[in-house]
Amino acid sequence: MQGVRKRIDVGVLGATGMVGQQFVRQLARHPWFRPAWLAASERSEGRAYADAAPWRLSDAPPEEVRASRVDGCVPGRGPRLVFSALDATAAQDIEPAFAAAGHLVVSNARCYRMDADVPLLIPEINADHLALLDRQRRARGWRGAIVTNPNCSTVVLAMVLAPLRRFGLESVLVTTMQAVSGAGYPGVSSMDILGNVVPFIANEEEKMESETCKILGTIGDSGVTPHAVTVSAHTNRVPVIDGHTEAISIALKARPSLDEVSGALASFKGQPQALNLPTAPANPIVVSAAPDRPQPRRDVDRDGGMTITVGRVRRCPILGVKLVALGHNTIRGAAGAAVLNAELMLATGLIGED
Ligand SMILES: NC(=O)c1ccc[n+]([C@@H]2O[C@H](COP(=O)([O-])OP(=O)(O)OC[C@H]3O[C@@H](n4cnc5c(N)ncnc54)[C@H](OP(=O)(O)O)[C@@H]3O)[C@@H](O)[C@H]2O)c1
Repeated sequence: MQGVRKRIDVGVLGATGMVGQQFVRQLARHPWFRPAWLAASERSEGRAYADAAPWRLSDAPPEEVRASRVDGCVPGRGPRLVFSALDATAAQDIEPAFAAAGHLVVSNARCYRMDADVPLLIPEINADHLALLDRQRRARGWRGAIVTNPNCSTVVLAMVLAPLRRFGLESVLVTTMQAVSGAGYPGVSSMDILGNVVPFIANEEEKMESETCKILGTIGDSGVTPHAVTVSAHTNRVPVIDGHTEAISIALKARPSLDEVSGALASFKGQPQALNLPTAPANPIVVSAAPDRPQPRRDVDRDGGMTITVGRVRRCPILGVKLVALGHNTIRGAAGAAVLNAELMLATGLIGED
């Protein structure tokens, strides 16, 4: 990208949690951003990051942040750009306070995703929804802003549906098999999840059904008009560490062949690829021809966890087409998604390089 000469200092709210750790890991090796300020709750404030964060990723905490003192989430203290991996209860008040104080908050939390003036972004699909920021500034009077990424299971579904819009999306039935890392740390008790499936994740089905339509929607003078597709979701927690797998059946008006469906998925690209953003995968969706893929253990880390792997594209006798999709929930579904959002904003001039 032209014009980016040095790394920009950024902050992480909720830096000690599951998603916060992914942020720290991604930002420590990022060419454009530097994790200069880490914040969390009073439980962590004042402690060295390596002591405060119950590190659960496979590689060690990055050397450059191990000794950093964790700060409190006090607006005005951190850099202008802050990523938020806050627990939703905390995000509710903290994120708007940061936006009001002039920070650009790039958030994972659910609180503001469905607000009419808040972009709910997947850069490959709806980069144009960033136009909502003008509306947000006028409506709220903030010097900063809030930009969100979707729920971790919604990302996988929306990425699959976006390239199929050309065939006319009618209705979708999705059943998820979601990893335990999606519940944060310590998350679901081992007694509840080992050798088990839990067929309930609070508010998850509602989020998938509503967020998907907003993401696929079109933006105009009056905001985002949600895409007119009916989504029905069943969400389940399964004993997998990372990676949400989704069995998806889709009714399409145009009745495309299976080759046309696979071709549309495999050739899907968007702004991140056109702009060659640092963490953009060359192919956001990889279609596997193997009869038994995708599998979390074998496919979840493809392209640093930023690629959605699709397999088993076949006929559905009820809705027309069915397939299985997999995405990394704390990377493409959380920290990686937010970092890609910030890359897009920097590359398109929405974040200054001060
Ligand atoms: N895990 C996923 O796959 C996933 C995917 C998409 C979106 N999300 C969303 O991302 C957010 C973080 O999820 P997570 O799984 O990382 O949760 P988590 O492991 O429970 O971490 C929560 C973080 O929030 C901080 N926090 C909690 N209460 C606070 C308060 N009152 N003031 C300041 N900081 C506070 C915690 O700090 P302490 O360590 O100091 O307590 C910790 O850093 C949630 O909103 C979640 O819904 C998660």
